Amino acid sequence: MSIRSVTPGDHPALLALWQRTPGLQLRVEDEFEPFCAYLERNPDLSLLIEQDGQVLASLLVGHDGRRGYLQHLVVDEPWRGRGFARALLREGLLRLAALGIEKSHVFVLGDAPLALEFWLAQPGWEMRRDIQVYSTRRNEN
Ligand SMILES: CC(C)(COP(=O)(O)OP(=O)(O)OC[C@H]1O[C@@H](n2cnc3c(N)ncnc32)[C@H](O)[C@@H]1OP(=O)(O)O)[C@@H](O)C(=O)NCCC(=O)NCCS
Repeated sequence: MSIRSVTPGDHPALLALWQRTPGLQLRVEDEFEPFCAYLERNPDLSLLIEQDGQVLASLLVGHDGRRGYLQHLVVDEPWRGRGFARALLREGLLRLAALGIEKSHVFVLGDAPLALEFWLAQPGWEMRRDIQVYSTRRNEN
């Protein structure tokens, strides 16, 4: 079992992992080209765990120069409860800290109970009750 940076060639395996994970919503940004653009913009930050060439877990990590943003923290169902998510989180935050990014956010869907429980259980993470998120997409305006 090892953690390494995600590369463009990992896209098919990651997409398959995300598609078979209940509760994970895929967007146009998960297609190959935007996925590669994201990795290029955030080099050596996104992570996966693999064993014998099989991808077991993922975490997309990016930043805007000020705050870190985490997405697609996923551990394949048979591999949950072994600390894989915690290990990805720790490494992702270390890599952000090395770039001077000390504060990060994750947006969790309100109807994703596993994810909500996971984040509530993480030391040092606080569920924000003082912020409401507003989102827009250009072609919807
Ligand atoms: C959320 C998820 C990534 C957790 O993965 P995991 O590998 O099982 O988590 P870990 O084993 O690293 O757990 C780390 C700690 O969080 C706690 N934890 C993990 N899942 C939990 C849950 N559902 N409820 C309560 N605590 C939880 C564990 O107790 C563990 O602490 P401990 O070792 O002291 O007991 C996994 O359940 C998953 O992939 N869910 C579906 C995808 C998803 O919703 N992702 C979140 C997107 S924001």
